[in-house]
Amino acid sequence: MSKKIDVTIVGGGMITNDLILPSIYHLQRSGIVSSIDICALDSTPLQALVDNEEIAQAFPGQTFTAHPNLSEPVTNKYPDLYKEVIKAMPSRQAVVVAMPDQFHYEVVKLALECNQHVLCVKPLVLHYEQAEELETMALEKGLFVGIEYHKRFDRRSLLARRHQELGHFGEFVMGEAKMIEPYLYRSSNFQNWFTCDKTDPFVYVGCHYVDLVQFITGLRPVGISVAGVKGKFPNGNEGYMWATGRVTYENGAILSVIDGLGYPDDGAGSNEQCLTMYFEGEGKTGMLKHNDQFRGVSHCYLDNIGCAGSQFNYINPDFYRLVPWEGDGYKPVGYGYESVAATINMIHRIESEVTDLDNTASLAHRRERIREADAKGIIATPANSKTNELVVEAARASILDGGCEYRINYGTTPSIEKLQ
Ligand SMILES: NC(=O)c1ccc[n+]([C@@H]2O[C@H](COP(=O)([O-])OP(=O)(O)OC[C@H]3O[C@@H](n4cnc5c(N)ncnc54)[C@H](O)[C@@H]3O)[C@@H](O)[C@H]2O)c1
Repeated sequence: MSKKIDVTIVGGGMITNDLILPSIYHLQRSGIVSSIDICALDSTPLQALVDNEEIAQAFPGQTFTAHPNLSEPVTNKYPDLYKEVIKAMPSRQAVVVAMPDQFHYEVVKLALECNQHVLCVKPLVLHYEQAEELETMALEKGLFVGIEYHKRFDRRSLLARRHQELGHFGEFVMGEAKMIEPYLYRSSNFQNWFTCDKTDPFVYVGCHYVDLVQFITGLRPVGISVAGVKGKFPNGNEGYMWATGRVTYENGAILSVIDGLGYPDDGAGSNEQCLTMYFEGEGKTGMLKHNDQFRGVSHCYLDNIGCAGSQFNYINPDFYRLVPWEGDGYKPVGYGYESVAATINMIHRIESEVTDLDNTASLAHRRERIREADAKGIIATPANSKTNELVVEAARASILDGGCEYRINYGTTPSIEKLQ
């Protein structure tokens, strides 16, 4: 029996606007999702979601319940309102965590305590111990936790993983990745939370490529050093605007990553991103090269409707786009949508499979499905992606320590330590 899932999204900012809400709306009209609630710190981003013409045009007649109510003055802040909303949900629905990184732990934990499945934007949390705690808690209660590392769902990543699994490339030895987000991020809400003490471009976006290299090769990172360049946001807060990281893997391979909030607003790409990997074979080498910025499509519009109010853009048709379909409005396509849908569909599938089971059988079945997903390693789960939390810990320690190298020890209690 198919059981529709209620979804509560916590956080109404950029990622909710650009990916999460449209994806959830589409899942709603596809019969997977039932009600949609969204909580934010105040009513401003919620009103912006309602006013978003592109979303209204793509999903005619669809709406969500706003917390706080849209009529609340924008000056009223509700940092704890999400707790009430999650506590009021019926058991075993879905909470989507889409707020700044440093809040993920407490919101995911509360969702699990309230017996909810979870989809969390990356990174799950900022500390390995927390990832382990959430993994244990979720498995105990038979609740699915998916982490939205959408690059895993890009066809080129899946293709790379297949060829790597089949031994077509050789052994990964040296790589280079880049993700430079647009300069305009500096004047967004980022200036309120993207401060030196909390995060940096390596942790914010470099983590996608670190996750991806492990996704493709199965190799665990064992050493990290990250150096950054600081700058001021328009509101005067200081943040790392640029960062470069070097990741060493357990087989000795090295990945170099550069990240920043600084791709020119006047540039044609909405950001810059790419991955190159070299592999050693018998008497020859293998290679893969992903140009993740220019994917062969460019548009020039009559009006300034492109990224940052531009007219000429490199278009990425692969991540998230709205396209015509048989139904009303437009539908989201791309690996961003597929990634959100993979976790929500998994939750829907699990709950539909256990509707007729008693409590003991239901719990056993849900746990089995979680372990299967952990082992499959396509959807990121705490179990199959928690090395990312060690990378984040080591990266934060390193950038605040002037770029010194930190090692990751995978003992019985994995930990990081400074390389002396
Ligand atoms: N490529 C990616 O995977 C990707 C891209 C963008 C963002 N993200 C992740 O998404 C998360 C949010 O990023 P964003 O760009 O949307 O940030 P944002 O600053 O645009 O939005 C943050 C939202 O959180 C809400 N919020 C803050 N405190 C709250 C509270 N106590 N209760 C309820 N809501 C609260 C704010 O109202 C705001 O709507 C971050 O963890 C980020 O790393 C991932």
